[in-house]
Amino acid sequence: MYEQVSHSLLNSILNDLKPEIRRQDLRHFYTRLGANFYAIHSLFSTLYGHRDDFNIQILNLVETMARGYIQRSAELEELDMKRERDHNWFLSQKWVGMALYSNGFAENLEDLLHNRIGYLQELGINMVHIMPILKCPVGQSDGGYAVSDFRQIDERVGTLNIFRQVANEFRKREILLVHDIILNHTSDEHAWAQKAKAGEAHYQDYYYTFEDRRIPDIYEQSMPQVFPGTDPGNFTWSGEMQRWVMSVFHHYQWDLNYSNPEVLIQIVDIILFWANQGVDVLRLDAVAFLWKRLGSTCQNERHAHLILQLLKDCCQVTAPSVLFIAEAIVAPVEVTKYFGEDAIVAKECEVAYNATLMALLWDAIATKNAKLLCQGLKSLPGKLDRATWLNYVRCHDDIGFGFDDQDIRAVGYEPRAHRRFLTDYFTGSFDGQARGLAFNRDDATGDARICGSLASLAGLETALEADDQALIQAAIDRILLLHGVILSFGGIPLIYNGDGIGTLNDYSFSDDPSKSHDNRWVHRTKIDWKRAERRNQPGTVEHSLFGAMQKLIAIRKEIPAFADFNNRELLPLENDHLLGMVRFNPQRPSDLVVVIANFDSSAHGIDLETLSRHGLNPRGRLVDLASGLSPLLQDGVLAVGGQQFHWLTET
Ligand code: GLC
Ligand code: GLC
Repeated sequence: MYEQVSHSLLNSILNDLKPEIRRQDLRHFYTRLGANFYAIHSLFSTLYGHRDDFNIQILNLVETMARGYIQRSAELEELDMKRERDHNWFLSQKWVGMALYSNGFAENLEDLLHNRIGYLQELGINMVHIMPILKCPVGQSDGGYAVSDFRQIDERVGTLNIFRQVANEFRKREILLVHDIILNHTSDEHAWAQKAKAGEAHYQDYYYTFEDRRIPDIYEQSMPQVFPGTDPGNFTWSGEMQRWVMSVFHHYQWDLNYSNPEVLIQIVDIILFWANQGVDVLRLDAVAFLWKRLGSTCQNERHAHLILQLLKDCCQVTAPSVLFIAEAIVAPVEVTKYFGEDAIVAKECEVAYNATLMALLWDAIATKNAKLLCQGLKSLPGKLDRATWLNYVRCHDDIGFGFDDQDIRAVGYEPRAHRRFLTDYFTGSFDGQARGLAFNRDDATGDARICGSLASLAGLETALEADDQALIQAAIDRILLLHGVILSFGGIPLIYNGDGIGTLNDYSFSDDPSKSHDNRWVHRTKIDWKRAERRNQPGTVEHSLFGAMQKLIAIRKEIPAFADFNNRELLPLENDHLLGMVRFNPQRPSDLVVVIANFDSSAHGIDLETLSRHGLNPRGRLVDLASGLSPLLQDGVLAVGGQQFHWLTET
């Protein structure tokens, strides 16, 4: 019945399409629209069915998709078809990503295009997230996440034309391009916000605005704060508009109102615009926040998921080769929902940041044991088949210790004291090794998130200052250990620009008044190409790190068991210091690799019995694929050195 309604609505929409659209060759578009329309219609009805303008809005939506399709190049359409045939293409182990700033890793987009792609390829990177490059205000930009024009590139980093050249060049070299879609908010200088400020009710309806504090006060009772220390509160008074506006992140980032279908359609249009510039992967920023409901935390709401499903279905009609990454830094039980629930294939985002693994890895570094890491991974809900993680150690944001309190208790810690320990450890007040900065410390609990570059958090800054070879080596080992896990976990590893050469904290941000309040800038450094050159100079830290990472990346790409087909089992080990995972090749399950990582600073052993129970034949010759060497065996026990890891298989 509903399907019939849906069908006849689709027919009438197609008849009502503007003649200039109907005149085009839309065969593929019609086929895909037909296949997805039932879902699109039911989602759109759930969200907006109560509105008088429902029919007009759904026609607008279809026209937006059709226009996007017409503007899609033949080359990209071919790519759409190729990836549709090879449905699971992104689950392969051959992808390795990097996140970088076009004006940090290079001078700008043009410099990146002409001079820096070689470095990426040398390391083995074939997916690149270019951090936000859209027009944003000087000063109040949240590192580019406060956008004032969704279609214009910040003139300080380049032009749309150069961006397209980057996309083309990447495609030629089989490098995936990742671009941000910042869909939860705009800058207060965006044209929509300007019009809202000027009193246009139509655009005030793009945001959540209120004439007085009555409703905002109710919201505040249940909404947590993102930046309690530096930008408290979820609402901002706009003197120009004479109204309060919801601004969950900074006061200059105004939250978009998705209960207005026009906002959703605008965002579909923007998504398709970037898809048509040749972007392969769209990173959807802050997706947990998309729906606001009075009395709730306004995070992870069911309707936020419906919006994501709708965006995915619409993108599927026009640009099906494009993947979505969910940036949802939320509790482990919530995060897998961003792949989509109750579905075999990803219905929301095909990829999601694995913030759980990231935070757990840092816990293992601080505690020198893998107790919580193993427990947290055990509790991580399973995910859909056609979905994968973005596994990372560092990114441009802070590290929050958002693990589950129950898991913390299960391994014998008290949650508050444990988080306190972690903050102390990473700000250096525990043993002075790590050099992190606290971020938005909550004075009541002492809890804070942490900023700092991977190398500085891993102790390299301290070690270099002390000029202590043993400490330097320990820091290098830690950095490689962390990468050894994200490269073998299953999913796409995302390396943060600069980490391949051990980039340290850069404290100069504190001299810039537009950055000094935001400690995240300490790890958003400009790459030092002189240091990067030393990657070719044996005996240097850069050489050790870069060479090792380059090797590990190349090896990972050759191990089919490292593809992500839900082919990972945790290996229960008696020893708290060790993480063990069995990865098997789904095509040949006997073809397996056992990953063992030792987070302690001294060596620990595993008896071969344990390994044989999990499929490694103790009589076979074991080899560590990561080093190419046979592991140390003595009396039936395999020794894993302090802060070392192995990718074990039989030859
Ligand atoms: C995401 C970004 C972060 C930004 C926030 C608001 O979490 O990663 O840098 O501050 O969204 O856009
Ligand atoms: C909050 C958001 C996360 C973002 C961070 C920026 O934790 O949930 O998305 O990365 O703020 O600091």
